[in-house]
Amino acid sequence: MTRTLFVTTALPYANAPFHIGHMMEYIQADVWVRYQRMLGSKVYFVGADDAHGAPIMIAAEKAGLTPQEFVARIASGRKAYLDGFSISFDNWHSTDSPENTELAQSIYLGLKDAGLIDVRDVEQFYDPVKSMFLPDRYIKGTCPKCGAADQYGDSCEVCGAVYAPTDLLNPYSALSGATPVLRSSEHFFFRLSDPRCVDYLTQWTQDGKLQPEVANKVREWFVTDETGAGGLSDWDISRDAPYFGIPIPGAPGKYFYVWLDAPIGYLASLVNLFNKRGEDVAAFLADPATEQIHFIGKDIVYFHTLFWPAMLHFSGRKVPNNVYVHGFITVSEEKMSKSRGTGISPLRYLELGLNPDWLRYYITAKLNSHVEDVDFTPDDFVTRVNSDLVGKYVNIASRVAGFLSKRFDGRLSAEVGADGGELLAQLQAQAPVVAELYESREFGKALREIMALADKVNTYIEAHKPWELAKVEGSEIELHQACTTGIEAFRLLTVMLAPVLPGVATAVADFLKVDQFSWDDTATLLGEHTIGRYQHLMQRVDAALVDQLFEAPTPEPGLDAEVAPAPGGQELADQISIDQFSAVDLRVARIVAAAVVEGSNKLLQLTLDVGEAATRNVLSGIAGVYQPTDLVGRLTVVVANLAPRTMRFGVSEAMVLAAAHADESQHPGIFLLEADSGATPGMRVR
Ligand code: MSP
Ligand code: ZN
Repeated sequence: MTRTLFVTTALPYANAPFHIGHMMEYIQADVWVRYQRMLGSKVYFVGADDAHGAPIMIAAEKAGLTPQEFVARIASGRKAYLDGFSISFDNWHSTDSPENTELAQSIYLGLKDAGLIDVRDVEQFYDPVKSMFLPDRYIKGTCPKCGAADQYGDSCEVCGAVYAPTDLLNPYSALSGATPVLRSSEHFFFRLSDPRCVDYLTQWTQDGKLQPEVANKVREWFVTDETGAGGLSDWDISRDAPYFGIPIPGAPGKYFYVWLDAPIGYLASLVNLFNKRGEDVAAFLADPATEQIHFIGKDIVYFHTLFWPAMLHFSGRKVPNNVYVHGFITVSEEKMSKSRGTGISPLRYLELGLNPDWLRYYITAKLNSHVEDVDFTPDDFVTRVNSDLVGKYVNIASRVAGFLSKRFDGRLSAEVGADGGELLAQLQAQAPVVAELYESREFGKALREIMALADKVNTYIEAHKPWELAKVEGSEIELHQACTTGIEAFRLLTVMLAPVLPGVATAVADFLKVDQFSWDDTATLLGEHTIGRYQHLMQRVDAALVDQLFEAPTPEPGLDAEVAPAPGGQELADQISIDQFSAVDLRVARIVAAAVVEGSNKLLQLTLDVGEAATRNVLSGIAGVYQPTDLVGRLTVVVANLAPRTMRFGVSEAMVLAAAHADESQHPGIFLLEADSGATPGMRVR
């Protein structure tokens, strides 16, 4: 029975190129999808970039790009990885798309109609310089527990304490360095604690569909203590402008939190695909036979087993049939971090000319249906690929194919002899076992079964020794039968490996002169058929090349190259003439008084002597960095002929010069210019 499947992988944040963790997830899903397609099932396999959220907005600003330009640049790099590793997505889209906007707003309105949206005031840190609410990870300060400086808003990396950003001592904004202020604003909440949600999700998560360890973990999230504390909490789904996201209908200045619209991106990509193909997506999703399956990593289970099914169910939509959770991949037992990345870059792997099917095989061989971490170990990779793929599998074809072309014009023999027939029957009898292992994502076991079959084939070939038969007069028939058995077996093994090794399978189909493989091919034999000339199918892995994976990666084309460090974080301005420079009248000034500005965290009020009859009043945005008492008496430099500017706190009659890095979040600080001693107020700077 063929199935109709809607399959996704998690949507990667559009702020960095793929790392090997992403590729592991895509390989796992792709092997399963290719297996389903081989069975004749109709699969819609889609992905997309997760484009929204504060970190991307901030990263774009740093790179001097709009968020749209920034994510477009990341998105343009995706194809090289996906095609490079033969990931057979039918579509790749973005959460920053009209489809997603429409879907997110409609799902939200559905939840609102169901009475599951609340509005509440929330007090949060606000950056008065950047004029925005600060996500926890952009608030830093001194740990309230151990006193370590520069810790993040949610936890201390030194002592491990977990706290709220408001607990930090001397908090500051990692974006501007300013002292954040508490501000209240309205937030929208999805009422996950509503008994309807709790009941529905209890059933959805505990009906046996989830992996046992996932179901157990999820069960803990429902538990309340005797006081009623714990259990599912309502979810804050809104963020205030400025935010890169989808506007909340009927709530100006409010946007959906990125995790609200991210999974909706699965549907957006599907809708986009159906519209491109002119197919009816509504009918597809309304069909109870359609199965919806999400492959994800263990870190995002909460979103996919609680928020996501609830959002869909209570807005009257189809819910996922299952969520398949995998563990994390490490490289030589080292965790990779989002910031540091990992020692090996998938793109570099391809650039070095390493065969993508090798990595697919290696990762697949390490995967099972459980949430277990896997490790990429270079030596193990070389050994596994060389011994299994080259030594056991490809070896079969290379040992027999030559004789068939040289001695029999590529014709296979109609008869294969008793032991040949028995061997092939054994392989065919194992195919349903392998099929069941693919179906249940026991990929490691599937590949071990296949390699055990390859061992049997090699034993058969060693027993017949075609290389000796070829030299013995009158052994024609046995030679023909042994080589035919070898090729028939090789074909059966290839069909079983095809979900994992799409590149090799295509080359083998070519060599055997057959169509692309389907799973049914495990039940047939070629019989009287003429095959093509054998071409070398796969090299051995060169360990020296694998070592090169660990050298510094080449920059992502068009990305790192274009945002390469500029002096002080920004490119030089256009050239000007000396006359243009002279138009700016710079003078030495003495700060005779300085005061805080009531109601502003940013401005200091300075009284300057510029050598004129009267002093000048100047408002300067240096309050976050200088105390008034630090400044009085100093000599500095001002733009003295700048038109006076009327600000909320008074008129500013000159501009004080100060230096700052373009990216103040990474290079905090503002540094006032100072004239050397001996200069007097009013001297011109030229
Ligand atoms: N944008 C969210 C997902 C939104 S889904 C609606 C996100 N993005 S991510 O780029 O951080 O991760 C994407 C996927 O890669 C997740 O499933 C995550 O678990 C997986 N992996 C990230 N690091 C990984 C490893 N080291 N190993 C295996 N998978 C890993 O989360
Ligand atoms: Zn601490």
